[in-house]
Amino acid sequence: MNRTIAGVTQPRILVTRPLPPGSLAPLASAPVHIDQWEHDVPMPREELLQRAAQADGILATLVDRIDQALLDVAPRLRAVANYAVGYDNVDVPACTRHGVLVSNTPGVLAETTADMAWALILAGARRIPEGVEYIRGGRWTTWGPMTLLGTDVHHRTLGIVGMGEIGWQVARRASGFDMRVLYASRTRRPDREAEAHLEYVPFQTLLAEADFVTLHVSLTPETRHLIGGPELARMKPTAYLVNTARGPVVDQHALYEACRDGVIAGAALDVTDPEPMRADDPLLSLPNVTVVPHVASATAATRLKMGTTAAENLAAFFTGRRPPTPVNPEVLDSGGA
Ligand code: GLV
Ligand code: GLV
Repeated sequence: MNRTIAGVTQPRILVTRPLPPGSLAPLASAPVHIDQWEHDVPMPREELLQRAAQADGILATLVDRIDQALLDVAPRLRAVANYAVGYDNVDVPACTRHGVLVSNTPGVLAETTADMAWALILAGARRIPEGVEYIRGGRWTTWGPMTLLGTDVHHRTLGIVGMGEIGWQVARRASGFDMRVLYASRTRRPDREAEAHLEYVPFQTLLAEADFVTLHVSLTPETRHLIGGPELARMKPTAYLVNTARGPVVDQHALYEACRDGVIAGAALDVTDPEPMRADDPLLSLPNVTVVPHVASATAATRLKMGTTAAENLAAFFTGRRPPTPVNPEVLDSGGA
């Protein structure tokens, strides 16, 4: 039941996961009741639907599907704050039709995610996971002039697919490596081109010329399998693919074949399709593929900022202020909420 104070029903906010301590601070003084799932595993779908049915707001994570079926059983729902910059887990058009505001956490995780893209670029090029395995496997018996030879990153060509905030932070970081930086993006950014010497090129040119192709697009019907067999074949056999965006942006079976057959030099992934990736996934049998478990934004500081950003969107919404990072602001502007 909703708690009432002086006869006023408080909006009820479902928080679908334990979050870093302090995340919900923006909601502390808001007149809302918090219903938080207390286990550090995703809410089972049935549980999510049951609790969503009572909710006015949901603070959701990227593993929670906020779809038509959920909206159908959640008549009170007015706002969904996604604890992520990507919101492919949310059916935004359906939310808009239902007058449900959706927000995300842009900005606060861009630099942290860009750091991880660089970690993966370097890990692949310099074969760091292979080196770790080499020692663990007892094979480090002597120093060798040709042991674990990698590829240089400096003075090579970086290809950034998607020039949003994260792509931009990846681009800025390339300057210390004296790289040529190409980008392909739905939206051309002349301001950023001038500031960091970026070259805007057709996607096909980027694929053919980059030594490192790094993905920074959101997952949409247009970007699903953006990288498949033909795109991998167009890449240099010495090139690496890095994905910190969303797993389905890459056709993972095609990637497996390309890395196995030397069509490209290797890949480093923070995201997979599906997630979680099973331990017996064929990709993990390839020494030139590095996979980490969707942790690009996983620093203590950034995960807290994501929490306070999501909570602030809900706090603003339920106290009549404008939420800072709406995805479908038309819901606010139409007054339909
Ligand atoms: C994480 O993947 C995010 O979209 O924030
Ligand atoms: C390698 O360690 C070198 O000193 O060149």
